[in-house]
Amino acid sequence: MARKILVTSGKGGVGKTSVCAHLGYALSSVGERVAVFDLDFGLNNLDVVMGVESKVVYDIKDVLDGKCRVKQTIIECTPRLALIPSRHTFDGQVTGQNIKLLAEGVSSRFDYLFYDCPAGVEGGFHRAACAADEAILVVTPTITSLRDGDKVLSLLKNYKLKNVYAIVNRVRGDLLLSGKTASVSEIESVLKIPVIGCIPDDDKVMLSNGFILENGRAKNAFRLTAKALRRGQGKLFDPTLYYRGAVGLIRRAFR
Ligand SMILES: Nc1ncnc2c1ncn2[C@@H]1O[C@H](COP(=O)(O)OP(=O)(O)O)[C@@H](O)[C@H]1O
Ligand SMILES: [Mg+2]
Repeated sequence: MARKILVTSGKGGVGKTSVCAHLGYALSSVGERVAVFDLDFGLNNLDVVMGVESKVVYDIKDVLDGKCRVKQTIIECTPRLALIPSRHTFDGQVTGQNIKLLAEGVSSRFDYLFYDCPAGVEGGFHRAACAADEAILVVTPTITSLRDGDKVLSLLKNYKLKNVYAIVNRVRGDLLLSGKTASVSEIESVLKIPVIGCIPDDDKVMLSNGFILENGRAKNAFRLTAKALRRGQGKLFDPTLYYRGAVGLIRRAFR
């Protein structure tokens, strides 16, 4: 049975969809079978982020309308990485129980199911949360994101989740070195949940065409995060390394 993991944040634009795509790919690269559900019915874009929008035939709405079976929605991005798409015009007349049933329909085929959750803490968040058995809170090292993250954590207490982890995304190693942004350990002590990933702010994420990242810092960070998620803990990427030493000093000057 797959691990069913909600990827949430409260705040929009912090990197939930990117985490689903790139962490999903990193896990699939080490042999795990991963499916990512696009549960952001209002602003679904996981198909675009994963570079497979032209392959979408059926989506979650079609399953709920009885037009196809959930297996027919599966888009194989690689032999071990799949997308289950949703539809933009879909107004979200869907329940958590619906999502649970969809997930159960494919659970035996995968090791991990990621639920790409909409921003906010309304219906879309709750229906995804009630179909999950673990959660990843994606935050950036900013006060607004951490504040929203804290609210989300208090809501997640209403669900029976085995594990709730955090991934700190878009970490600026230069700002971290100069003490201008919160460190991972500070974030961990604020949120009081284990951080399993530290992803640097890296243009390669924004510029990636699909789920495969060009070699570099973000790709390495997602690899480490995949390891940590498999084990429940692990080494975190250090975003300050890039800005250390003589070359690092020049990089900081040019940021
Ligand atoms: N680590 C990162 N470094 C640079 N850009 C990032 C990073 N993570 C996400 N982004 C960019 O931030 C934007 C919002 O990310 P997205 O994953 O869509 O957020 P969300 O799903 O939470 O709304 C996208 O343009 C994405 O490419
Ligand atoms: Mg998103």
